[in-house]
Amino acid sequence: MAKTKTRYVCQSCGAESSKWLGRCPSCNEWNSFVEEVVAKEVSRLSDRPVYAASTPIPIGKVDFTERKRIDTTFREVNRTLGGGLVPGSMILLGGEPGIGKSTLALQLALKMRDIKTLYISGEESAEQIKLRAIRLGDGNDNCHLLCETSLETILSTLEQFAPQMVIIDSIQTLQAEYIESSPGSVSQIRECSSRLLRYAKTSAVPVILIGHIVKDGSLAGPKVLEHMVDTVLQFEGDRQYFFRILRSSKNRFGSTSEIGIFEMQQSGLVEILNPSEILMSHSQQALSGLAIAAALNGMRPYMIETQALVSSAVYGTPQRSGTGFDFRRLNMLLAVLEKRAGFRLGAKDVFLNISGGIKVDDPAIDLAVAAAILSSNADVAIPQKTCLCGEISLSGEVRPVYRIEQRIAEAEKLGFERIILAHSAAKNNISTKHIKTVYISKIEQLPKLLFG
Ligand code: TYD
Ligand code: MG
Repeated sequence: MAKTKTRYVCQSCGAESSKWLGRCPSCNEWNSFVEEVVAKEVSRLSDRPVYAASTPIPIGKVDFTERKRIDTTFREVNRTLGGGLVPGSMILLGGEPGIGKSTLALQLALKMRDIKTLYISGEESAEQIKLRAIRLGDGNDNCHLLCETSLETILSTLEQFAPQMVIIDSIQTLQAEYIESSPGSVSQIRECSSRLLRYAKTSAVPVILIGHIVKDGSLAGPKVLEHMVDTVLQFEGDRQYFFRILRSSKNRFGSTSEIGIFEMQQSGLVEILNPSEILMSHSQQALSGLAIAAALNGMRPYMIETQALVSSAVYGTPQRSGTGFDFRRLNMLLAVLEKRAGFRLGAKDVFLNISGGIKVDDPAIDLAVAAAILSSNADVAIPQKTCLCGEISLSGEVRPVYRIEQRIAEAEKLGFERIILAHSAAKNNISTKHIKTVYISKIEQLPKLLFG
């Protein structure tokens, strides 16, 4: 006979235990075990049904017709997804509260006019969503709303209504009736997402799940959710700024190195197709402490401004802070400048900022960061129309970076007259028309190149 069983599940990492535990042995979280009902457990081996064997097929004989991707009408979203929505795929869209997940999802549903979309919300009422749609200034009769949290009702509605794209806002609000734990718990999330995944795969309808983020920045719910979905998109940005970045951290149908850049405006999210223009200041005057880097995000080159402020430390211990740039890397660059190039920065406060609050992890901006620090330290501006691109090693050597031609082409397009590159990039024999390439091999040569 089948019997009902309960188990204790860690709400933080999904670890299971037959007893209640004060501290999770797997993730060390305190007080995270909650009792949950396991629907059915077949106890004895003899109760288990016997299954017939299935036949594996050679890979060459697998029927394959590539399904056409669905155009989301947002170039930045298409790019991040690797060329559009794949029919039958399940996408998890995560981000901090208030970052704009619901706005992005609703804009997608409204803009994809040729497609019957269903926006299911468990968080807001239909009036609230309508209000947002008015604010977005878009009407579309192909976009439908459903305010519901019961998984069973949602699945039967999907059967009957047959939409061509589904958005669930959010997965943490859904509830399967036969599971007793509350919405947002590990078992609810696991069950609801696996049922929705089955729906997506059998009906070939793409499903976008919106997911909350917990305070340490990871997606709420079990890791199993991230394993289950085809694509994980993170929507991030600094709340003080209006830029928002859509990044994919997992994608079964494309590269994860692409990003999409948006700006949050009064009337919703606007795509930024040419990031260089907004990420550089348009001041006519050359200012000290500013340097432009030729960076790359995914396949896309863009120019970004690095800003540094170096001042004498008022207190005993100098302060260092970096926004948009890895703090440890900043400390490393300062040590290299001190040790290899003899700049006495040890007793100075150093503040570094990457324009627009954008986080850059391209090592090619090292050289621009060093240039901005030297420029602020000497209080001499870097000549305008000069940009930099190179990685700095611990030995103070400037290293080349990949896709150098694309970076030079972008700088040339934006009217730069001089680009400072790693010496070893010279062997590539890059021919340029309007931009002069200047090569550097050691960091100590930088002040001379910049300030003459
Ligand atoms: P929302 O999509 O509700 O965030 P999430 O679903 O990620 O929690 O976005 C909320 C923020 O976006 C809110 O603070 C206001 C801002 N916003 C705009 O600036 N312009 C707009 O047109 C809309 C709809 C929202
Ligand atoms: Mg929301």
